[in-house]
Amino acid sequence: MEKTNKDLFEKIVTISQSRGFVFNASSIYGGLRSSYDYGPLGVSLKNNLAASWWRDINNDDVLSIYPVDTAIIQSSEVWKASGHLAEFSDPMVDHKPTGERFRADQVPDDIKKEDLTEPRHFNLMFETNIGPVKNENSAVYLRPETAQGIFVNFENVLRTMRAKLPFGIANIGKSFRNEITPGQFIFRTREFEQMEIEFFCKEEDQEHWFNFWINKRLDWYKSLGISEDKLRIRPHEEDELAHYASKTSDIEFMYPWGWGELEGIANRGTFDLTSHERESGKDLTYFDPETNKKINPVVIEPAGGLTRTLFAILCSNYDEDTVNDSTRTLFRFNFDIAPIQIAILPLSKKDNLINISKEIKNNLQKSFRTEIDLTQSIGKRYRRQDEIGTPYCITVDFETADDKSVTIRNRDTMDQERVEINKLHHYFENI
Ligand code: GAP
Repeated sequence: MEKTNKDLFEKIVTISQSRGFVFNASSIYGGLRSSYDYGPLGVSLKNNLAASWWRDINNDDVLSIYPVDTAIIQSSEVWKASGHLAEFSDPMVDHKPTGERFRADQVPDDIKKEDLTEPRHFNLMFETNIGPVKNENSAVYLRPETAQGIFVNFENVLRTMRAKLPFGIANIGKSFRNEITPGQFIFRTREFEQMEIEFFCKEEDQEHWFNFWINKRLDWYKSLGISEDKLRIRPHEEDELAHYASKTSDIEFMYPWGWGELEGIANRGTFDLTSHERESGKDLTYFDPETNKKINPVVIEPAGGLTRTLFAILCSNYDEDTVNDSTRTLFRFNFDIAPIQIAILPLSKKDNLINISKEIKNNLQKSFRTEIDLTQSIGKRYRRQDEIGTPYCITVDFETADDKSVTIRNRDTMDQERVEINKLHHYFENI
């Protein structure tokens, strides 16, 4: 990592912990490598991103996207049919002098090749057992992708929703991979959250929908405030395609250490539905009323990471500027996703100012994420709110009781304006 970017990475990790976005898991026991807990602001940011994703994939008149929320533990048959039992592995090498393990393509530069063992394949699925007796029939796996929960529910959704091609099924939730080299904070962890869509379409439309989803997903990342020059599309080379994909393009983000995957858009063809048909013996075809024929829909899959997006948002929204000769640090979160949208700051702890602040909060919190911030001087409170990315602060001052107005301070411009209390709701609704 180049010096300035290394600085950025370290700052993001430090602020995440000090301000309540992300904590090391099991920290009172010294932590567990590459496991993280999300604190109050991290949970809010993650929920807001998930809500924005659901809104965005449903904002199009022509698209039908059906949500599902599927089990983490599925029948092991699912992973046999999907190919994960046989294929979901990474080549792993051991460093002979220390016994340290690395993914073969992620060995640190300072390690000599002759000190490494030959690569061996290592399945990335976490295995556990179901029920009290542990034997070969009790083995189950924590899902390594949310996608398979969609494929095994294809017929359920088709039937109950009377779905017509093209349509999508979307699933969001935790996935687990026993990554050999997790790291770079929450970029690559063993437990993470995915947000995936399997979009079913006719074979002749696959190119259209592949390109459609690349553009739609790219637009979503831009709408979150990630600047265009930090995003790019990278088509996969033939030899890096997953076992199920005929074509994949990644949306990449410029992380502090360079370009890396944010989301993959893959053409999974008919691989999954036909594999599950074969393994389960169930009919997973679609009856096309236009041709009166049963067909196997082709699948275009936009597969994103919720926790990875959160990391990209922290990196791309972090900023520093100079105010009154001192450095101000801030997250420039969009109003839509900011953990706290409006902070209410009574200028003193006097009862009447606190009571007005509570009334304002009661009024605004039905529509917006708000908090009353009472501690320290007003300047320090502004700085704290900037640091956690709150777009607006409302100051309740000694004039407020008389003029029924407050001062709104904008995080980005630091401009202040006087607004009547009874116009606040309207003001924030029209941002
Ligand atoms: N169903 C296809 C699939 O799972 P993937 O490219 O392996 O494709 C999709 O994963 C997305 O999930 C990635 O683009 C990334 O955002 C996220 N992801 C994958 N592995 C991850 C990990 N170990 N830690 C955090 N996020 C991960």
